[in-house]
Amino acid sequence: MKRVLTYGTFDLLHWGHIRLLKRAKSLGDYLVVGLSTDGFNAQKPGKKSSYHVYETRKTMLESIRYVDLVIPEVTWEQKLADVKKYSIDTVVMGSDWEGSEKFEYLKDYCEVLYLPRTEGTSTSQIRRDLLWEAIGYREEEEQ
Ligand code: CTP
Repeated sequence: MKRVLTYGTFDLLHWGHIRLLKRAKSLGDYLVVGLSTDGFNAQKPGKKSSYHVYETRKTMLESIRYVDLVIPEVTWEQKLADVKKYSIDTVVMGSDWEGSEKFEYLKDYCEVLYLPRTEGTSTSQIRRDLLWEAIGYREEEEQ
């Protein structure tokens, strides 16, 4: 059985997330998602707090047919331990993480793949679009 692992916040679940999860699952037989906790997100520089709390995001991810297991992501440093604990063959991330030091070192332990992001959508973009439509407020893009 080939086991695949990916990470993210997956807030305001959208088409880009679903496509990422579908492609990740198609690379193996069992897909684990490391879901960023609210506490971990609060530590990420410039990251807005998610609309849905961790437990809600987890329940939504668990209802997707491509997802077999959701685990909490509480720190940047847990990835190697996760790879070992869950016997991971492949770590998959969207191409916004291409070449990141946060994932590249895992190549000594498993395959690391970056999949092209889906153009034209993101959680941040949805927030901005809805704010603009609702009240004409143009939110700054995150750095
Ligand atoms: N992703 C993707 N295509 C998109 C948006 C996200 O493939 N259009 C991927 C990311 O590359 C990542 C995973 O989905 O591997 C989870 O991304 P996440 O950061 O939770 O979602 P974003 O929409 O990118 O959120 P934000 O706008 O807050 O950065």
